[in-house]
Amino acid sequence: MANTFLVGFMGAGKTAVGQALARILCFRFVDLDGALVERFGASIREIFESRGEAAFRHEETLLLERVAFSPRSVVATGGGTFCLPHNRQVIHIAGGYSVFLDVPWPVILRRLPGKNLDRPKFVDPEQARQLYESRRTSYLLADASLSLGGDEPPDLIAQRIASLLPEVA
Ligand code: S3P
Repeated sequence: MANTFLVGFMGAGKTAVGQALARILCFRFVDLDGALVERFGASIREIFESRGEAAFRHEETLLLERVAFSPRSVVATGGGTFCLPHNRQVIHIAGGYSVFLDVPWPVILRRLPGKNLDRPKFVDPEQARQLYESRRTSYLLADASLSLGGDEPPDLIAQRIASLLPEVA
C-alpha cells in the first residue's frame, strides 16, 4: 500500500484525518509541522521569525524527502508543502499517493481564528482567503480530491481515503 500524503489548506483537517488513517492502515503517522517543531525545539512561528520562510521551506523539503521514502507512512503535510513543484515531485518519485482535503473557505475561516497563533501564513481573513484561492490549483494536482462539507468526522474521511488507496507494494 502506497504512502499517503494529505494536502490542503490550514485548517482542512490534515492532522486529524492523517491520525485516523494511520490507525486504520496500521501505518506510522508523520505530521510534518510537528516534526519540524520537534527538530528545532521552537514553534512554527518562531522558526519563521528567527530563520525566515525560505529556511522553513528548505527544512520542510529535507524532512519530506526523508519521510517520503520511509515505508508504511501517512504524512500530514503543511499547507504550503504541496504548492512547491519540487515537493510534489518528491512525493511522485517516492510512489506516494496524495489526497487533497477540499474544505470550503467559510469552514476554514470558522476553524482558523483562535487557532492561528502558530500559523504565520494566516495574517487576516482577506489575505488568507486570497492565499487559499491561489493555492487551489496546486492542491488540485493531488492524485485524489475529496470535497468535504466540514462536518464529516475524521474517522469517516479516513475510511473514504482508505478505500481509494492503490495497492502498491
Ligand atoms: C503553512 C501551514 C502550516 C505550517 C506553516 C506554513 C502554510 O501548516 O506548515 O505555518 O504555508 O500554509 P498547517 O496547514 O498544518 O497549518
